Amino acid sequence: MPTKSLSFPGSIILILLQSCLTIYTAQNNSHCRSSSCGDITINYPFRLKTAPQNCGYLDTFFVLDCQNNQTILNSKSRAYHVQAIHYSNYTIRLSDPGLDSQNYSSCPIYSSIEYDLSTIYIQYIENIEITFVNCIGPVKNPLYVVNAFCGNISTFSNSSGVHSYVSVGSILISDIEERCTFDRAILASAHGPIKDNTSYSSIHDLLAYGFDLLWYRAMCSECESSKGACSIEKNEIRCRHYCYEDTPFSERSFLSYIVLIGSSAIGKVQIALTVKIQK
Ligand SMILES: *[C@@H]1O[C@H](CO)[C@@H](O)[C@H](O)[C@H]1NC(C)=O
Ligand SMILES: *[C@@H]1O[C@H](CO)[C@@H](O)[C@H](O)[C@H]1NC(C)=O
Ligand SMILES: *[C@@H]1O[C@H](CO)[C@@H](O)[C@H](O)[C@H]1NC(C)=O
Ligand SMILES: *[C@@H]1O[C@H](CO)[C@@H](O)[C@H](O)[C@H]1NC(C)=O
Ligand SMILES: *[C@@H]1O[C@H](CO)[C@@H](O)[C@H](O)[C@H]1NC(C)=O
Ligand SMILES: *[C@@H]1O[C@H](CO)[C@@H](O)[C@H](O)[C@H]1NC(C)=O
Ligand SMILES: *[C@@H]1O[C@H](CO)[C@@H](O)[C@H](O)[C@H]1NC(C)=O
Repeated sequence: MPTKSLSFPGSIILILLQSCLTIYTAQNNSHCRSSSCGDITINYPFRLKTAPQNCGYLDTFFVLDCQNNQTILNSKSRAYHVQAIHYSNYTIRLSDPGLDSQNYSSCPIYSSIEYDLSTIYIQYIENIEITFVNCIGPVKNPLYVVNAFCGNISTFSNSSGVHSYVSVGSILISDIEERCTFDRAILASAHGPIKDNTSYSSIHDLLAYGFDLLWYRAMCSECESSKGACSIEKNEIRCRHYCYEDTPFSERSFLSYIVLIGSSAIGKVQIALTVKIQK
């Protein structure tokens, strides 16, 4: 039976760990006031660019801009709109600045999924692909939903014959109809408000809702500098310290744990520690 260290009485764990525990300190941001832009609350690891540098994580990804109450995240040459920052599950939701939730003809300005935002601190999480295709003449395919034209019209010799479609989910090359060309694929949150994947207004609402990124790694620097292994489990950041290179404590069986306590050879015990990072 697999066990979790957190399920054991703290006092026992502490006794066992004393000999190998690396002291963990919380993030140093207590001197920073939380700021806001529009309805987005901005806390560590994010900061507004007007806030002191040490109020956010050092990577420029976490430096946000505020323009007319719209929070902007600049990354490389792109500027995304910040729709939400969730500190409970370490996610941020961004949307393409071309998408206007009030205007169903508006188009994303950034084309294709280039994973341009992923860094060692940032991962894409739980998104679905939305594919845009342009076809010469109308196409009847249940996967294709009629859409406003979003491509580059000068690439078509006869623009009046172009029909544009959008499709939820990744479509296979074989799903591309003969008279159609792939325009772009962009990401949208799998937690988004899609009611009907065959209605363009519903797909557009989902696009405007945005896509999700996971940023918990920015909270890991202290763990990592103490040679811990940082991970996220059930929305909690864990820092595991391996006192000896062996099976992590959390992956040991309950029986072997009992044996460890019984032997009480603390110095020789091979254990790992799971600490919930303090916020
Ligand atoms: C936390 O930040 C403050 C302000 O920058 C600094 O004076 C202090 O030394 C820092 N504390 C730690 C433990 O790094
Ligand atoms: C931003 O929001 C605040 C508070 O809701 C409001 O007073 C202000 O006029 C807004 N500014 C702009 C440029 O919309
Ligand atoms: C993160 O939590 C918020 C609030 O509970 C929720 O709305 C959002 O969908 C979650 N995001 C992900 C990617 O799970
Ligand atoms: C809606 O978006 C389209 C395409 O970007 C644009 O041409 C049109 O002016 C927009 N309409 C409004 C009311 O903003
Ligand atoms: C549109 O396509 C034309 C011809 O291929 C190209 O010259 C032009 O730069 C493209 N425009 C945009 C905005 O990509
Ligand atoms: C352009 O497409 C329209 C609509 O499909 C068609 O009526 C027209 O004849 C086409 N023009 C040319 C020059 O092919
Ligand atoms: C559209 O939604 C239906 C019902 O929820 C689902 O069965 C189907 O797989 C979805 N299609 C795509 C392309 O996501």
